[in-house]
Amino acid sequence: MKVRIGNKGEYRVVPFFSDEDHTNALFDHLKERDLFSGKVGEAFIDVTPNGSREILWGLGEKAEIKEDVLRLAAYRLAKELARCKITEAGITLPLTDQIDPETTARALTEGFYQATYRFDKFITEREKFLLKRIFLKVPEEEEAAVQRGIDEGSLLIRGIFLTRELINEPAMYLYPKTLAKRACEVLEPLGVTVKVFKKKEIEEIGMKAYLAVAQGSARPPRFIVMEYMGNPDSEDKLALVGKGLTYDSGGYCIKPPKGMATMHCDMGGAATVIGAIHAIAEAKLPVNVIGFVAAAENMISGNSYKTGDIIGSLKGTTIEVDNTDAEGRLTLADALYYAADNYHPTAIVDLATLTGACVVALGELYAGAVTNNQDFMDEVLTASKNACEYIWQMPVCDGYRELIKSKVADLKNIGIRGAGMITAGLFLEPFVEDIPWVHLDIAGTAFTSAATGYLPEGGTGNHVKTLYYLAKGRQ
Ligand code: BES
Ligand code: ZN
Ligand code: ZN
Repeated sequence: MKVRIGNKGEYRVVPFFSDEDHTNALFDHLKERDLFSGKVGEAFIDVTPNGSREILWGLGEKAEIKEDVLRLAAYRLAKELARCKITEAGITLPLTDQIDPETTARALTEGFYQATYRFDKFITEREKFLLKRIFLKVPEEEEAAVQRGIDEGSLLIRGIFLTRELINEPAMYLYPKTLAKRACEVLEPLGVTVKVFKKKEIEEIGMKAYLAVAQGSARPPRFIVMEYMGNPDSEDKLALVGKGLTYDSGGYCIKPPKGMATMHCDMGGAATVIGAIHAIAEAKLPVNVIGFVAAAENMISGNSYKTGDIIGSLKGTTIEVDNTDAEGRLTLADALYYAADNYHPTAIVDLATLTGACVVALGELYAGAVTNNQDFMDEVLTASKNACEYIWQMPVCDGYRELIKSKVADLKNIGIRGAGMITAGLFLEPFVEDIPWVHLDIAGTAFTSAATGYLPEGGTGNHVKTLYYLAKGRQ
């Protein structure tokens, strides 16, 4: 499907706000019979041979209009058009005082494309999405702004869909080596330098905590570094670190079958970083962003790490392994320290499907955050609001830090039962070397059990836009 500017389309879509006075006779007729009232995304489509070629499209109350309402309304409309086998539609761009035309066009573009997504590559008889073209009818003086909105919405969607595809891909196909290959394939054409370190090189670097997690798998680890230097003259560098467990069986602290079934999603952080860098590079944002992914599989074998092991790390900190299923923080500790020590970034964000505790606390709608710097946290929160993606900051204090001190090593990799999301975040803190840092636990939001609004079940692509707007805000 394609979205473009134009005054074409077999069917014409007329936006309706439910709280406005209308002079449209069809609307009055339908409203009286409770067939159409203008609720968000509601569509009245007459496909009879001699029917009206005018489609009424609800946007809810004008006073309540927001970017996310536009996305949802566009998503529902596109689904409905496709269901009615309409291949081409022309839509009058809804103009409001609250949202400028560029933002409106971007939100609508995102919503339309969201309707086309399905993870169906393994389904033999795929259902086709029949809607092929959407034309936005806009006043001439707004064309340039609207085109910018369409372009930005489209590239954001490409980043989001890439993230989804990577997350949804089964672990039998997507493992450290193939994840690294995919990162090269999709990012190098956009001018991103992708460096891939193999096991021997990771050993030479000294990433002992990461290697301990990876050692049980027949599939060797790959450490992936992606450099996008959109502004080489600037000292500013944003580091994005993504948890890259292409599968998490739990190791010897094995997960129950239900918890294990979707653990190919445990590279959600990595996928989000790759998707975001894709969007940032495609938009040619004049910023420097470097992505880091310590990709590995957490498996059981005669070579696996065990509970009670006391492992080292790149920083030198020793760690008592109390639970082999708390593996993400071990891989992240080394990736974060590598980023901090080798690149000296201005700020670091890590994203990780890190704890079940996050899902218990916040469900699948909000990601949990832990930070060492309130100003940078506020910057990330602002970006997430622009993206309409939700983040909730968790409290931290020394009492929580006490919970991950070990009697036999510098740290242990789990705390107590309570506050599991916070202690997991705080475990990472010493490895960022006091650089402003935000940790996002995306265990609930990266991969969901049910569709919500315009987001599908499975890989969502959540937080790609937050990272994009964060980078954009730094230019
Ligand atoms: N990958 C899991 C966390 C997870 C849970 C991600 C649900 C997505 C959905 C992580 O490695 C893990 O197993 N964490 C443990 C930590 C515990 C042992 C302290 C958990 O949350 O149970
Ligand atoms: Zn685990
Ligand atoms: Zn995990």
